[in-house]
Amino acid sequence: MAEHPPLKVALVGALGKVAAPCHLNVLRSLPSLELSALCDVDEAGLRQLAHQYEVGQVYTRYDELLADPGIDVVDLVVPPFLHAEMTIAAAQAGKHVYVEKPMALSRSQAQQMIQAATAGAVYLMVGESYFFHGPHRLARDLIQEGEVGEIRQIRQYKQAWLFNESENRRLQGRGHDVAWRFDPRLSGGGQFPWIMDHGPHLFATARLFSSSGIRTVAALQREHGVGREQQLRGITAISWAHVDDAVDGMWLHCETMPAAGPWIGFRTEILGTKGTLRVFGEGGGAAPGFPQVAPVTLYRQGNARDFQLDASCDRSWVSNNSYYDEAHRNVWSHFADAVMNERPLEYNGASGLEDLTATLATIQSAVRGCATEVSSIADDWHAWET
Ligand SMILES: NC(=O)c1ccc[n+]([C@@H]2O[C@H](COP(=O)([O-])OP(=O)(O)OC[C@H]3O[C@@H](n4cnc5c(N)ncnc54)[C@H](O)[C@@H]3O)[C@@H](O)[C@H]2O)c1
Repeated sequence: MAEHPPLKVALVGALGKVAAPCHLNVLRSLPSLELSALCDVDEAGLRQLAHQYEVGQVYTRYDELLADPGIDVVDLVVPPFLHAEMTIAAAQAGKHVYVEKPMALSRSQAQQMIQAATAGAVYLMVGESYFFHGPHRLARDLIQEGEVGEIRQIRQYKQAWLFNESENRRLQGRGHDVAWRFDPRLSGGGQFPWIMDHGPHLFATARLFSSSGIRTVAALQREHGVGREQQLRGITAISWAHVDDAVDGMWLHCETMPAAGPWIGFRTEILGTKGTLRVFGEGGGAAPGFPQVAPVTLYRQGNARDFQLDASCDRSWVSNNSYYDEAHRNVWSHFADAVMNERPLEYNGASGLEDLTATLATIQSAVRGCATEVSSIADDWHAWET
C-alpha cells in the first residue's frame, strides 16, 4: 500500500492562550501531520506566529480557510460557542475535524455535528485529552489485564493546579482566566461555567476506567472557587452511578495550598474487587519539595507496586507527573492513524456527546438540587437558560 502523505492541518484559534500553544507543539512533532495554516481574528498576531513557526498560510476568515483545497483537517481550538457552527461548515467543505472539548453547548448541536460529519464522510474527533492521558491509558491497560478485578468505584479528586515558572510568566500569572471560560453563555455552563469546561474530562475518564456510561448524577453546589469563578457558585462534589449498576463514582474539588496536602492536580482512585489503582492525571502528583510519587500505583494484597512512564516532562504544570502536551499528542496520533488508515476512532462524536450530556446533567442537578438522570436531558436544553 502506498504511504499516505502527511495530513495538512489548519490550526483555528491559533492565537489562543491555553490550548493553542499545546496544539502548536503537537502538530509540529508528529511526522504524520503537517501544520499548513493558522487561523484567528488578529492578522498581525497571526503573521508573527506564522513567521515564528514557519507556517505558510494564514487566514483571518474561516470561510476562506475552508475554501483552501490544500487543507485536509481543521483543528478547532476556539471557544465552545463556536464548535458547532465551525465543525458543521468544515464537514460540509469536506475537511476532517478535530474539535476541542466540550464538544458543543447542547445535545442538539452535538447531534448536528455528528450528522454533518456523516453526511460529509469526514472524521470527527473530539479532543478529549484525559481519555488519552498516558497514566490513564496505563491504568486502563492494567484494568483490562484483570489486575484489580471487577471495578466497583471510581474516585476522582481535583486539587490546585500549579503552573511552572515559564508557563506562569506566559500566562501573566492569570492562569486559564480567559474571557469566555467564566461567561455563563459563552462557556455554555450557565451558573457553573467552569464545570462545563472540565466536566467532559472527568466523565470521559470515569468511562475509560469502568467501560460503562453514566446513568445518574448528583451535584453539590456552594461558594467555592478561585479567580472569576469566586463570584459564581462552584460545584465542589459530584456523585454518579454508572449504567453498569455495580459501579459508581465521585469527583471532589477543593483548592488548597499545595502545602496543605500530599498531592496536587487531578488524580483518580479505581477500586476493584482485587485491588486499587491510584493514577495521577493532568497537573497531578507531588508539588516540588514534597515526597515524590509514581504516576500509577497498584495496591493489592498488602503491596504497593509503582508504574512509571517513559516521559515525564511537561511544558505547563509543576508536578512530577505532568503529561499535558503528551496527552494531546496521543489524541492527535490516534486521530491521524485513524484517518490515514481508515480505522474507527476510540473517542468520536458520539463519545463527545455522551460526556457532554453527563456534564449538562451535572449542571442541571446543581441548579435543581436533586439527582438527574442523564437520559432526561432534552436535546435542546442549554445550561445558561437556568
Ligand atoms: N483538552 C484540554 O486539556 C484543553 C485545555 C485547554 C482548553 N481546551 C479547550 O480548547 C478550546 C479553546 O480554549 P482556550 O482556553 O485555548 O481559549 P482561548 O480563549 O485562549 O483561545 C481561543 C482563540 O480562538 C480565537 N477565535 C475566536 N473566534 C474566532 C474565529 N471566529 N475564528 C478564528 N479564531 C477565533 C480567539 O481569538 C482566541 O485566540 C476550548 O474548547 C477549551 O475547552 C482544552
